[in-house]
Amino acid sequence: MTQIRRQVVITKAGGPEVLKVQESPLPQLNKDEVTVAVAATGINFADILARQGLYQDAPSMPCTIGYEVAGTVTHVENTAHEHWIGKRVFGLTHFGGYTSHINIPIHQVFDIPAHLSFEEAASIPVAYLTAYQLTVVMGQLTDSESVLIQNAGGGVGLAILDIAKHIGATTIGTASSRKHSFLKDRGLSHAIDYNTQDWVHELHKLTDGRGVELITDPLGGKNWQASFKSLRATGRLGMFGISEASATGLKGKLKLIRTALAMPFFHPVRLMNENKSVFGVNMGRLWHESDKVREWMNELTEGAEAGWVRPHVDKTFSFENAGEAHAYIEARKNIGKVLLIP
Ligand SMILES: NC(=O)c1ccc[n+]([C@@H]2O[C@H](COP(=O)([O-])OP(=O)(O)OC[C@H]3O[C@@H](n4cnc5c(N)ncnc54)[C@H](OP(=O)(O)O)[C@@H]3O)[C@@H](O)[C@H]2O)c1
Repeated sequence: MTQIRRQVVITKAGGPEVLKVQESPLPQLNKDEVTVAVAATGINFADILARQGLYQDAPSMPCTIGYEVAGTVTHVENTAHEHWIGKRVFGLTHFGGYTSHINIPIHQVFDIPAHLSFEEAASIPVAYLTAYQLTVVMGQLTDSESVLIQNAGGGVGLAILDIAKHIGATTIGTASSRKHSFLKDRGLSHAIDYNTQDWVHELHKLTDGRGVELITDPLGGKNWQASFKSLRATGRLGMFGISEASATGLKGKLKLIRTALAMPFFHPVRLMNENKSVFGVNMGRLWHESDKVREWMNELTEGAEAGWVRPHVDKTFSFENAGEAHAYIEARKNIGKVLLIP
């Protein structure tokens, strides 16, 4: 019998009101895919940019986005995978995650650690894998170093904080001031309000003018130049987003152009002479490196079992209220993850 799925669809580029719930038949399973009945799906900032028409990797509209889900396996294509049926799993989806049922390649699916809820599990894939790549794989953070986490209160920001604390590094974060007490309770050493304070000056004061060894920066535009200047010698700047460009309609397009024009160019001689490096992270373009991603996820799953990976669910919304969920994030209200429940 054909399975009917409910999906949240971006009907056209625009404000939160363009998100609509629609029904359609679930396609046949492809080779080595499993069907997951979704219990929770994570929202990421890229989804907001996709809805605004500002995310170049998004499918053409109308489309269903969503990079991560948690739920229960109901069907498998390959009989060798039958032991997965009935298992609680979470995983990465190459779009299509805002759905009640989805077919996912088996190599993108992972067992949920026993003590985690579906909501907590759906909060892990994008935020923690991005954080792991930024902090451990490419950032190479050590316990004698300091990290500046830009946008520390977001899903990725909290994940970087967990990992940096596990490493034993000193943690400094930028966030709206109403998120500071939460961040300090989670173990952030110093919080800076980047909306009302000159964060460069505050960081300078906190580090006796030396700067920090790692900066993780999803803001983009001219902020990357300021972050680069705030690195200590041997420092690394990890760039992974353009939150600064976020806005709907013509304003969004103009902000995107402004953000792109303000991006710095890093001359090799300058990198050499200042003993600094820069790198970029885009989890949405690592589908061909599933072995690496599985290895990182295994570390993170062990971290969840050991207690240092602590996914924080801020709020859940029904599919019908997906627009409210997007508006909530755009209004900067979230601390950690916001999820949709089919
Ligand atoms: N490259 C990758 O692979 C990858 C993967 C995941 C995420 N990202 C990027 O990382 C960033 C954070 O993602 P996330 O999912 O962690 O975000 P999130 O949880 O949705 O966090 C949103 C937060 O971003 C802050 N923010 C900064 N500038 C903003 C703006 N112009 N409009 C609205 N909010 C703004 C706000 O916190 P404050 O109140 O503190 O300002 C807001 O609460 C995004 O740029 C995203 O695209 C990249």
